[in-house]
Amino acid sequence: MLALFRPKDYPQLLDLGCGPGIYGESFARAGYQVTGVDFSSRSIDYAKKSAAEKKLNIDYFYQNYLSLELNRKFDFAVMIYCDYGALSTEKRKIVLKEVYDHLKPGGKILV
Ligand SMILES: C[S@@+](CC[C@H](N)C(=O)[O-])C[C@H]1O[C@@H](n2cnc3c(N)ncnc32)[C@H](O)[C@@H]1O
Repeated sequence: MLALFRPKDYPQLLDLGCGPGIYGESFARAGYQVTGVDFSSRSIDYAKKSAAEKKLNIDYFYQNYLSLELNRKFDFAVMIYCDYGALSTEKRKIVLKEVYDHLKPGGKILV
């Protein structure tokens, strides 16, 4: 990932279904400006606490990625750990549209 989508070229990263922030923290350490979204409030609470303890500047939002409302655009979106594969065809279309609407021109998604 780092070789294909370097943080200096794709600085604003959106982590969809970020869970407790395991990858979000690695992305932040690698140099991305990370925003994580998950519809598990427990995971988001854990992720926020963990980032604060580690002094990592990550934005986490308790949201459904099928109806994203983020007031910002991203260079790079990721869905880690087979989340996309678990979605129905209809939900895949919805999430791809949501991601598209939240990407800058030339932005990328990695699933
Ligand atoms: C298999 S876990 C992966 C977590 C994280 N990406 C990782 O690899 O550690 C899937 C995550 O996606 C979240 N999730 C599933 N559907 C979602 C949706 N519609 N909106 C937001 N989060 C969702 C779950 O709550 C869960 O935290």
